[in-house]
Amino acid sequence: MGKLFSDAVINDVLDRSNIVDVVTSYLPLKRVGRSYKACCPFHPEKTPSFIVSSEKQIFHCFGCGVGGNALTFVMQYEKLNFREALEALAQRSGVPLPEPDKSDFERSKDDLSKNLYSLYAKAAQFYHNNLMKSAEAKAARAYLQSRGIPKETAQKFKLGYAPQGWDTLIEHLKGQGVNLSLIEKSGLVVSKENGGYYDRFRNRILFPIIDLKDRTVAFGARVLDQSLPKYINSPETPIYTKGKHLFGLSVAKDAIREKDKVIVVEGYLDMIVPFEAGIKNIVASLGTALTFDQIRLIKRTTSQVVMLYDADLAGEHATLRALDLLIKEDMFVRIACLPKNNDPDSFVRKSGAEAFAKMIADAKPIFDYKLDLLLLKFDAGTTTGKDKIVREMLPTVKKFKNQVTIFEYTKKLAERLKLDEKALRDDLHQVEDSETREVTQEFESAALKNFKLTEIPITERMLVKLMLEEIHLVDQLRTLIEPSDFMEEKLRKIVQFIFDFFSQGKTCKPHEMMTYLGDEEAINLISELATLEIHDCPNKEKLISDCVRRLKRDKILYRCQQLHKEIETAQAQGDHQTIDRLLSEYNSLIKQRSLFHGDACSQKKPR
Ligand code: CTP
Ligand code: MN
Repeated sequence: MGKLFSDAVINDVLDRSNIVDVVTSYLPLKRVGRSYKACCPFHPEKTPSFIVSSEKQIFHCFGCGVGGNALTFVMQYEKLNFREALEALAQRSGVPLPEPDKSDFERSKDDLSKNLYSLYAKAAQFYHNNLMKSAEAKAARAYLQSRGIPKETAQKFKLGYAPQGWDTLIEHLKGQGVNLSLIEKSGLVVSKENGGYYDRFRNRILFPIIDLKDRTVAFGARVLDQSLPKYINSPETPIYTKGKHLFGLSVAKDAIREKDKVIVVEGYLDMIVPFEAGIKNIVASLGTALTFDQIRLIKRTTSQVVMLYDADLAGEHATLRALDLLIKEDMFVRIACLPKNNDPDSFVRKSGAEAFAKMIADAKPIFDYKLDLLLLKFDAGTTTGKDKIVREMLPTVKKFKNQVTIFEYTKKLAERLKLDEKALRDDLHQVEDSETREVTQEFESAALKNFKLTEIPITERMLVKLMLEEIHLVDQLRTLIEPSDFMEEKLRKIVQFIFDFFSQGKTCKPHEMMTYLGDEEAINLISELATLEIHDCPNKEKLISDCVRRLKRDKILYRCQQLHKEIETAQAQGDHQTIDRLLSEYNSLIKQRSLFHGDACSQKKPR
């Protein structure tokens, strides 16, 4: 992590951002003794294992192993980068941030992004001017007219036209003084096999994808006729990641906030045409199922979503796929159904804004949508049909967080299928197994990571924990051990870090250190160690010296085991010179080992 701001600034922001307040602003915390608990926001769980310590200013989840300080929490929860999170916290706590102090690397990365934004602005302007003015774009203007898009709309959405030629954009940008290597990085040109470049978009209408800061970050480009591919899109760049943006959000965001609801459609024209007809709270997900990032983007403004995907199989699948994510993210979702062979664009033009608004108002809750779909597919008059529907519905019902909702839906399902309600409720509990299996699968991968942590020899963990807790002992420890004494790589890194930090005269408060570590696993490890309690240890100095002795001994033991194997190999190869060398090392280690004998830590030998 590059150093954007001085330690003093960062620590000032951290000091004024009580982690309990920060976390509470996102999720409810329950006080338990000296700490606070909640269900972890980073993995699904039903019993809380997410701990926030006010005293240590740290959070840690014992379920999935994630941890950190107030800053890393905001980074992870809001999906912000370091700087954005710091800015958010600074604003909350009223600390003014000075101009950032950047490393060369950060500066060059920032510069690249800045240059790309500026290049995309130039390209967008070039394409837009073309569309509005050039003689060559006459057909494009006529095409847009034919799709019900007047000049004003083209202006509002900064639509553009890419001319026929092979290098009109390249030449234009060069003329504006943009250097070729940047043009290449923009993805707006394609390199030729035998050198040189040509424009990616030719003879197409361009839809700029614009971020919340009104910057063009990518383009979608449509042909003017029936030829294929219908759309091509700009590739990912440092300023554009697929699935992280929503088309139209920058123009629709105020209406979304006002109406506290967003309509999500698939395509560019499905967004533009209804918008122009007066349906202002609408965005397009751009041909994919809604992603997690897109949902987070929406969640900043509203929690109510109406999905309006094409009435075809692909649309149905995309909708169903998005539903689980949306329920999980605690969004209120409904699904609007278009008549067959319509998309939002054609429907609005044929039937008008009022009919469109009615369709949105009639949107069905997920439960009804899915059930209706299944009732069309299976015969609810037969036992097999009922069984199939129940199997599909119960997992969805289970996903809701609210018990009352779950109760109501189970009741409704029983009524619709003419089944015994109590029996269905029993089935629902059975589903819990398969459901928790799904959840434990997510658990398992996280737990596996966690498992690795607990695999680390306890001595090593204990020492790091003690260093984190008893800062005054670090100085003494530095003379006794070195990072290389630690077998576990992550701990080695943390110890090195603590020593460096200490030698620079900084304090080693865990929550402050985390900010600089820039290694998620190491941060998680620190938060775990810091949150664990050491029981009944009146004499920490003694504990430390015991641990140091064991650490040294374990290291020797480990090396001896290695030597053992190496000696065997050398013997098999009859390599006497090597055998001699290895044996002499082995013997001197054995001698050293006796020095470290007798340990007071009562645990068994670490693995
Ligand atoms: N899409 C894409 N690439 C394709 C096809 C589709 O990126 N080859 C994306 C576009 O964002 C498009 C959306 O998926 O807007 C929906 O696709 P589709 O329904 O095929 O296109 P429409 O938006 O309806 O386009 P049009 O009405 O112009 O035919
Ligand atoms: Mn369409």
